[in-house]
Amino acid sequence: MRKLLFGSALLPLLWLMSGQTWADAAGGAEIFKTKDCNGCHYTEGPAKEKTIEDQLAKKGPELWYAGSKFQAQWLDAWLQDPQIIRLLEYNSLDQPNPGGHAKLAADEAAQVAAFLMTLTSDVVVAGKVKPKSNPKGKLIFKKKMPCSGCHQYEDRGKILGGKSGPSLVGAGTRLNPDWILAYLKNPAEFKPVKMMPVFAGLMKEKDMEKVAAHVATF
Ligand code: HEC
Ligand code: HEC
Repeated sequence: MRKLLFGSALLPLLWLMSGQTWADAAGGAEIFKTKDCNGCHYTEGPAKEKTIEDQLAKKGPELWYAGSKFQAQWLDAWLQDPQIIRLLEYNSLDQPNPGGHAKLAADEAAQVAAFLMTLTSDVVVAGKVKPKSNPKGKLIFKKKMPCSGCHQYEDRGKILGGKSGPSLVGAGTRLNPDWILAYLKNPAEFKPVKMMPVFAGLMKEKDMEKVAAHVATF
């Protein structure tokens, strides 16, 4: 039961029941339009981009599975005080991210977060991954696979790792552990134009679970 309750499919529902209402989600959808968020983010799945040109035309990351990907509390806080996630400008291979993402007031952020948490993907299996430091996951992330070459992470108070992928510092409070696994297993579902190598086939499913559990402790 615990497993089920904390699984990703029910998270949006729980979040809505815990003080948020469907009215907030509807209000959030409205704010999303009036603030032109949809000028840079699309919110209806499945993934639309098919070619590299489609990817390059996007001005921001897709949000159609935001409710499966993010943790509600992180989303609410980030919308009020956005911090840089991708160290490079979106779709750029060398320009630093200039930052300055649109900010929302607290009441708007709560509604937009409630709206985004209703957007889920049924490919994400709930309750499979629990955050857990484990030596195998750590070894895969740091050494056996090139994850750390592209992603920043924190190790004993130091920020290490590469800059070409989104930073995974704080991924444990930002990402849903079950989404991390779903993404590693089937990246094309979420990002059909691949900017990250596909590890399905290179890693055993058990090892993917271990590395997802490890990343979820960041
Ligand atoms: C000019 C284009 C643009 C507009 C307008 C815009 N965003 Fe963004 N958004 C981005 C980019 C680029 C990023 C990636 C930022 C980063 O990685 O640091 C982003 C990141 C995000 C993220 C995190 C997504 C992820 O996968 O990391 C959320 C949530 C988000 N935006 C919501 C919103 C909302 C809500 C609005 C309207 C108030 C909005 N955005 C307006 C371009 C935009
Ligand atoms: C060659 C560089 C590269 C390598 C190696 C790599 N990644 Fe990535 N990763 C990326 C990029 C780029 C993205 C963003 C994908 C996109 O938007 O298309 C990403 C996205 C992610 C995300 C989602 C982050 C977010 O906020 O959206 C996670 C989690 C992740 N990678 C984990 C891993 C793990 C675990 C490994 C090792 C098994 C790994 N990555 C190896 C480049 C890489």
